[in-house]
Amino acid sequence: MVATVSTLAPFANEPVLELRRAAVRARLADALATVDGALPLRVPALIGNDERAGDGLVSTDPGDPDRVVANAARADTADVGATMLVASAASRTWSRTPAAERAAALLRAAAWLRERRLELAALEVRECAKPWLEADADVCEAIDFLEYYARGAIELATGRPLLQVPGERNELSYVPRGVVAVIAPWNFPIAIPCGMTAAALATGNAVVLKPAEQSPACAYRLVQALRAGGVPPGAISLLPGEGEAGAALVADPAVQTIAFTGSLAVGLEIVHAAAAPTPGQLHIKRVIAELGGKNCVIVDADADLDEAVPAIVSSAFAYAGQKCSAASRVLVHEAIADQLIQRVAGSVTTLVLGQADALSTDVPPVIERSAQERVHRYAELASRDGRILVADHDVPAHGWFCAPVLAADLAPDSKVLVEEVFGPLLTIERVPSLERACEIVEGLPYALTGGMFGRDPAAVRAVRERTPVGNLYVNRGITGAMVARQPFGGNRLSGTGAKAGGPDYLLSFVEPRAVTENTMRHGLVV
Ligand SMILES: NC(=O)c1ccc[n+]([C@@H]2O[C@H](COP(=O)([O-])OP(=O)(O)OC[C@H]3O[C@@H](n4cnc5c(N)ncnc54)[C@H](O)[C@@H]3O)[C@@H](O)[C@H]2O)c1
Repeated sequence: MVATVSTLAPFANEPVLELRRAAVRARLADALATVDGALPLRVPALIGNDERAGDGLVSTDPGDPDRVVANAARADTADVGATMLVASAASRTWSRTPAAERAAALLRAAAWLRERRLELAALEVRECAKPWLEADADVCEAIDFLEYYARGAIELATGRPLLQVPGERNELSYVPRGVVAVIAPWNFPIAIPCGMTAAALATGNAVVLKPAEQSPACAYRLVQALRAGGVPPGAISLLPGEGEAGAALVADPAVQTIAFTGSLAVGLEIVHAAAAPTPGQLHIKRVIAELGGKNCVIVDADADLDEAVPAIVSSAFAYAGQKCSAASRVLVHEAIADQLIQRVAGSVTTLVLGQADALSTDVPPVIERSAQERVHRYAELASRDGRILVADHDVPAHGWFCAPVLAADLAPDSKVLVEEVFGPLLTIERVPSLERACEIVEGLPYALTGGMFGRDPAAVRAVRERTPVGNLYVNRGITGAMVARQPFGGNRLSGTGAKAGGPDYLLSFVEPRAVTENTMRHGLVV
């Protein structure tokens, strides 16, 4: 039977593992042993049916950089050209495949991931030092994207109702745009490439995926899932590589859409490059960009600190602060600032720095040496511009570990207060009023996530009305957006506002077409 949205079970989020259960922990240990036994993995470039092996790109374990996780092919400009030919041809067939059949392929890919979820989480533990809790949630989110966009695409294929008047038939439908270049970061190594790719495929586009150079093995598993689910090889190619491969894709005249998640600097470069048409190009390239953040949490004078303290600490330091949504700046009302600072400092002192595979770890290593150096640079700047409250953890010498840093009383013009650190560093500032906190947030160029702790409904309303951020969280942590519950993405320099995992996201991957037919009789043609 061909699927319609009504024949599918309603969307529900994939449940995360119950890590407190001994049996679950034992299964994770087994999965990690299996993954370790297969290292190093080999990751080819996948260009349609063609597999190009290579070892120009190496991914390593951030907690033990001597451990090679994957030897991957390194795509170059010639590979990009060859892939575009294959993808353009495949896009013509895939775009004509009924939406229900495309959705069915995505649902089978979700089942493939579900069957292997422990092993996939273990791979994230090794390749990206993602602790178990986060790695499992990442695999669940990837499954959610496939399930959610499959349903959304079936619904979108029915078009939208228009006003009809006698003698005229009006139809609005959505057609695929063509080839989508998906350029992904490493910090959600399966979920983020999966989300962008699934949305593009569900709506009938062919995809060329350029994963982050730090996580080619995770991306390879995603492409295996999609192909096992029935997505034709030409419609999903994999080009492991560095930034140059991404830039070559962006420049290719046959690319219609660029779905990018990553840093502001690279995002702006892509927007700029995509705006210049190249010879042979018949369209304006569309850029969907999800970028960085400088995420503030406002703590009002009447906030419940029992709620605020653990939420702030986990939002800032889980996965070593390497989430675009991570809290990096706390703005606390001066009436309770001393209490909050003392309690957050106490909590940060107890954080456990350790390997991602240890269930006791709160703060794993950061992704690579250059990230460690960047965090150290900002920590030094924070100590120069303000006061360091906590930074005295024992740091393992081997691996890209960074001690969690808590800083306060920074000079208002400190770069640490405006630039994205993307590591375990949190600042706290005292503000005289909620009004001042709102002004600070309104003055920032980034507008991704934000938080507010307070009990007065009028104060909550004021923050809601004034904040420019894409995702505001009230009286809870500011990370962990769930598909279908918190459509995710930033405004201003944090992104183009497409809102991944939300009802409007698929519209970024299609072109609307209106057809109007005169249905008055004109006599018989004989
Ligand atoms: N808003 C979001 O949803 C979201 C989610 C996750 C991460 N992020 C952001 O991503 C950043 C961390 O990820 P990262 O270090 O992988 O980011 P990055 O910008 O360094 O790299 C992202 C991707 O772009 C590629 N790339 C690099 N230079 C390129 C170029 N000139 N042209 C085309 N592609 C190029 C990289 O190879 C990689 O695949 C942080 O800023 C974080 O806030 C945002």
